[in-house]
Amino acid sequence: MLSAASGPDELAAMVARRVSGLPLEHVLGWAEFSGLRIAVEPGVFVPRRRTEFLVAEALAQAPDASVVVDLCCGSGAVGAALAAVLTGVELHAADIDPVAVECARRNVAAYDGHAHQGDLFDALPSGLRGRVGILAANVPYVPTGEVGLLPAEAREHEPLVALDGGGDGLDVLRRVAARASEWLAPGGCLLVETSERQARSAVTAFESGGLITRLAVSEELYANVVIGVRG
Ligand SMILES: C[S@@+](CC[C@H](N)C(=O)[O-])C[C@H]1O[C@@H](n2cnc3c(N)ncnc32)[C@H](O)[C@@H]1O
Repeated sequence: MLSAASGPDELAAMVARRVSGLPLEHVLGWAEFSGLRIAVEPGVFVPRRRTEFLVAEALAQAPDASVVVDLCCGSGAVGAALAAVLTGVELHAADIDPVAVECARRNVAAYDGHAHQGDLFDALPSGLRGRVGILAANVPYVPTGEVGLLPAEAREHEPLVALDGGGDGLDVLRRVAARASEWLAPGGCLLVETSERQARSAVTAFESGGLITRLAVSEELYANVVIGVRG
């Protein structure tokens, strides 16, 4: 805040907003993610550093991908981070929440990316079917009964639709896994973040969707990423 504020008055206002509980990233208007400065507007999920692991796994799995979809994109941080490395890639970001879509539109513009609004795959142009090299989907995965246990920054300042993944937290993940192979190119991959506890059920959902599946774990970032490849 010291380096972002233009003077003492703005700094005092920023401190007051932070003290009132607003996440630091919403106070500043940006979050650091994979070495990028991602614009984050109030009401939009703040990209977590943990999710940089999903980005790294996607790049390792599909270093030559030419079409990237960031489904459940929020700010579009994941798509932007992938496009920053995969120069010239065709990038699409999609979310059900119009506030997130507007924010993502800003963040993917630097990569000539497109932002779409709608429920999961319904948001995507049909011409993407069978062409997606990387389908990154950081879906909401907090079980409904545990949303109330989240830190106040999340509970009070991030939309419920960005957090609540249903009874066991895997409702959205299962819907994505069931339809991903329709959209993936041969050899294309789907990547989803889960908690450690959910990982096994998530792997089963991917396998039911016909994907060749493995789990990647980062102890350092406390991150679990399920990776499914269309054979
Ligand atoms: C956990 S946030 C992740 C945001 C972003 N991918 C990131 O990592 O920072 C989940 C996002 O999924 C979106 N979402 C939830 N249900 C959705 C649905 N049925 N279709 C599309 N997006 C959805 C939410 O609006 C939210 O932006």
